[in-house]
Amino acid sequence: MKNTIATFQEMKNKGEKITMLTAYDYSTAKLMDECGIDGILIGDSLGMVMMGYEDTLPVTMEDMIHHTACVARGAKNALIVGDMPFMSYQTGVRDAVMNAGRLIKEGHANCVKLEGGAAVTEQIKAITAASIPVMAHIGMTPQSVNAFGGFKVQGKNDDTAKKVLEDAYAVQEAGAFAVTLECVPAKLAELISGKLNIPTIGIGAGKGCDGQVLVYQDALAIFSDFKPKFVKQFADVGAVMRKGINDYIKETREGSFPAEEHTFKIDDDVIEKLY
Ligand code: KIV
Repeated sequence: MKNTIATFQEMKNKGEKITMLTAYDYSTAKLMDECGIDGILIGDSLGMVMMGYEDTLPVTMEDMIHHTACVARGAKNALIVGDMPFMSYQTGVRDAVMNAGRLIKEGHANCVKLEGGAAVTEQIKAITAASIPVMAHIGMTPQSVNAFGGFKVQGKNDDTAKKVLEDAYAVQEAGAFAVTLECVPAKLAELISGKLNIPTIGIGAGKGCDGQVLVYQDALAIFSDFKPKFVKQFADVGAVMRKGINDYIKETREGSFPAEEHTFKIDDDVIEKLY
């Protein structure tokens, strides 16, 4: 059964945890979908884990549309969430609606995600009014890395905790169907999750959220540049890949690959006529 934003709301209402991972390509999305993941986020994290940038800021609409379409072809049931890249919505309501529309029309996403709280409520209202569901994203919002002075936990003191809570109310009021809480203290995320009607999806926000999301290369130990504190490596796929690649190099170099079973045959007399 295809998951929709209503599925997410029902899950929150029933107290069932929502599971999300990022994906950026067809094969990975298909595999996650077959495992029964509830939602797949094509995050602008693709700039870091797929494209090798230091942060998410250089990611373009074209990058996002391309990868969102790949994922949408692979996932039949998961809710497809397309991330809006830096400067695709901050510049105004018209840009926000046009670019959200492109993620739906060209990327085949079911909904979009954008970063920011009270500062982007006009964009959330306008995109929602265009019948495109919006997942908000508050707390540590990576597109604001320069404004924050680094990737830092948000909401640890009186003022910033109040701001994160106010942002949560603001995005719900503006019509967001869910909100990602990134790198906020677990007790604050739990409090917000209890106060909001819409589901909260945590990343580095503790277990009190209504669901969780992780970048899959982090969760499967494929991305090796750094490991954020909140990441659990559920499998060492990086090690499995390294072994496979090393075995391939070794067997190719020594001539044991390709073997008989990987080879196409031809009758000897056909070959002889060619000499
Ligand atoms: O871009 C992304 O992958 C995200 C998650 C970290 C929530 O926004």
